[in-house]
Amino acid sequence: MTFNKNKNMKLGLGTAALGRPQYINVRVEDCDNSNLETFRKESFQVLEEAYNSGVRYFDTAPGYGLAEELVLEWLQTKNDSSIKIATKWGYTYTANFDPNAKIHEVKEHSLAKLNEQWNFSKQLLPHLKVYQIHSATLETGVLENKGVLEQLAILKKEHRLKIGITTSGTNQVEVIRKALDVTINEERLFDVFQVTYNFLDQSLLTISDELIRENKSIVIKEALANGRIFSNKNYPHYNKMYSFLEQLALKHNVGTDAIALQYCLQTISKSTVLSGASNSKQLQENLKVNSFSLSSLEIEKLKSFKVSPEVYWPERKQLQWN
Ligand SMILES: NC(=O)c1ccc[n+]([C@@H]2O[C@H](COP(=O)([O-])OP(=O)(O)OC[C@H]3O[C@@H](n4cnc5c(N)ncnc54)[C@H](OP(=O)(O)O)[C@@H]3O)[C@@H](O)[C@H]2O)c1
Repeated sequence: MTFNKNKNMKLGLGTAALGRPQYINVRVEDCDNSNLETFRKESFQVLEEAYNSGVRYFDTAPGYGLAEELVLEWLQTKNDSSIKIATKWGYTYTANFDPNAKIHEVKEHSLAKLNEQWNFSKQLLPHLKVYQIHSATLETGVLENKGVLEQLAILKKEHRLKIGITTSGTNQVEVIRKALDVTINEERLFDVFQVTYNFLDQSLLTISDELIRENKSIVIKEALANGRIFSNKNYPHYNKMYSFLEQLALKHNVGTDAIALQYCLQTISKSTVLSGASNSKQLQENLKVNSFSLSSLEIEKLKSFKVSPEVYWPERKQLQWN
């Protein structure tokens, strides 16, 4: 099942980098936090440009600083029922836009947090179509929390929402498998799976066919491996991958970001891939994904750069909030 009605637009826009100046990435330089109003205006402009380019699926979360509020404000300038908003619950943003903050977000998968965050997010209705557990894990026990699951089933029915989970980490396939089995009143609860997938972490491929067979929606996040797909001297073990990506980028007249996004679109059929652009320039580069396709040989070569989740995730954990 896909989200964007426009067949030529397969990207959705993620708002993680639009709601907080600091975000997990490979940037070396710190970003400027001094003018939040300018930051907000620029982020608003990215939403607007994405919309004008045909994007209709927008992913947000209360954990993304001012993102949910910004999406709400932006929606009020629109009158278009084709806009679909996905949000989440389970993380609270705690950094207060302080560049030196030690803790940026706090996870809590309780019924109280669900109720508290829903109270704000419900303002996104009727555009709100997808409601997700932010980073479901086995450790928080959220997939066994009867109170939470029943409340999600109520929201699903009352507001015709699709209920989803987002997953990260070495055991994301195990978490997806467990979520697939969750039923409330003999009905499967989860319809949408927002997963990490790129040519470095291909673990999704072990379960994507099953998800597609079950008519679940797949939304791909971290398609650029948080920036690790861009040539970077701190990752010399990816040098072969970098030179192949640069060769492909030159051939297709796009950036390596578009190559990585296209890889996801072509290898997971009917998926929605999230652009994580933090500014207009990046968005325009990401949108070039619509201008070309990769050959099967090129896809096979990209697949050969796979690393195991046990290598991928510790490297991801070392990334800083910059
Ligand atoms: N549910 C979850 O737990 C979860 C976790 C992560 C993401 N997400 C969702 O998925 C979306 C996308 O994921 P993501 O942003 O984390 O990862 P990503 O797409 O792998 O990486 C995005 C980063 O790549 C860089 N970038 C993008 N386009 C670029 C370009 N053309 N040139 C140079 N750099 C470029 C930017 O970094 P700089 O800003 O440093 O330039 C941007 O922040 C998020 O917005 C969010 O909606 C959800």
